[in-house]
This record gives sequence, C-alpha cells and structure tokens, in this order.
Amino acid sequence: MKIAVLNGSPRKANTAAMAEAFAEGAKEAGHQVEIIHVGKMKIGGCLACEYCHGKGAGKCIQHDDMDKVMPAYQDCDMVVYASPIYYFGMTAQMCAAIQRVYCIGKPAKAKKAALLLSAASPTPFTGAIATYKDMTGYMGLEDVGVITAAGDENGSEAKLAEIRSLARSL
Ligand SMILES: Cc1cc2nc3c(=O)[nH]c(=O)nc-3n(C[C@H](O)[C@H](O)[C@H](O)COP(=O)(O)O)c2cc1C
Repeated sequence: MKIAVLNGSPRKANTAAMAEAFAEGAKEAGHQVEIIHVGKMKIGGCLACEYCHGKGAGKCIQHDDMDKVMPAYQDCDMVVYASPIYYFGMTAQMCAAIQRVYCIGKPAKAKKAALLLSAASPTPFTGAIATYKDMTGYMGLEDVGVITAAGDENGSEAKLAEIRSLARSL
C-alpha cells in the first residue's frame, strides 16, 4: 500500500516521533510511506466558494501548501492522521488539510485510515476521535486503529512499539 501520514504538529517532537514509528513499522511490512508535515505548512481554510464543484472541476481555487498534500490524497491507499491535541481538537493546520479535501470529496483511492494523537493530559482526546470516526465513516475508510499518547507516554518506547506493531500488522 501507499500510505500518507499527515503530521499536524508544527514542531519535530512527540507527534513526529509517533508518525516516524508508524512509518518504520509500515515500511518493515513492505508498504510505501510518505510523511507530510502539514503542521509546518500554510494551508488556508476552505472558502466555500464551490469553484471546485463548478468551473474548477475538482481543483481548489486557492493555491497554497495544500497543493503539496493533494497528490498524496489522490494517490494513497491509506491515510494516517497524526496530530497533537490543541484545545481539545486536532491542530488548525490539520483541520484545514482535512477540510480542503472537499474539492475531491475524499482521498481518491484510500480504503483505510488510522489516528495518532498526542496530548499533555489523558482527558482531551474525545472530540478528535469523534471527528475522525465520523469522517472515516463518511468517507468509507476502514479504521485500523486509534492510538493516543498522554503525558509521559509521549516518546516512551512502549508507546512507539505499540504504534510500530499496529503499522507492521497492516
Ligand atoms: C496551543 C496548544 C494547545 C494545547 N492544548 C492541549 C489540550 O487541550 N490538552 C492537553 O492535554 N494538551 C494540550 N496541549 C499540549 C500538547 O497537546 C502536547 O504537548 C503534545 O504532546 C504536543 O505534541 P508535539 O510535541 O507533537 O507538538 C496543547 C499545546 C499547545 C501548544
């Protein structure tokens, strides 16, 4: 499979380590993995102009870093959403990258998805997980796993091993 891992963190720290662990496991299982650092990108929110569903014929009117994410959405068999929790949800950059898929409706060929979340405390994951479950249900993607890391779990060998193991099982 071709796997696109979207990393919603603007820095190379806890979420990046989770994304890397997933990539390591998936590569060991023979998959092709691309990590896309959407958290470091400039991605505008959808303008609801509907250009993409008219004259644009599936293309967005905005040209920003989403142009770098779109080829992966068009080509991947699986999307992994990896994000820190910022105020009880995924980061703004990740939310923008998720919502800008509106122009093509869903990642074109993808059949599977997974969610990796990092936070300081154990409590704030509910909203992001609900968003992910509703979204993957709508897109018809099979959820292969949700892994959260809270506080000291971040960067721990046990948590990274759990992520590698999930990826290896694909
Ligand atoms: C703007 C901002 C908002 C945050 N909001 C929460 C939160 O609501 N709950 C929580 O437990 N941690 C929160 N955190 C902590 C991060 O989720 C946590 O440090 C995470 O591991 C960061 O991931 P990273 O190292 O990949 O950037 C927040 C951090 C920032 C910078």
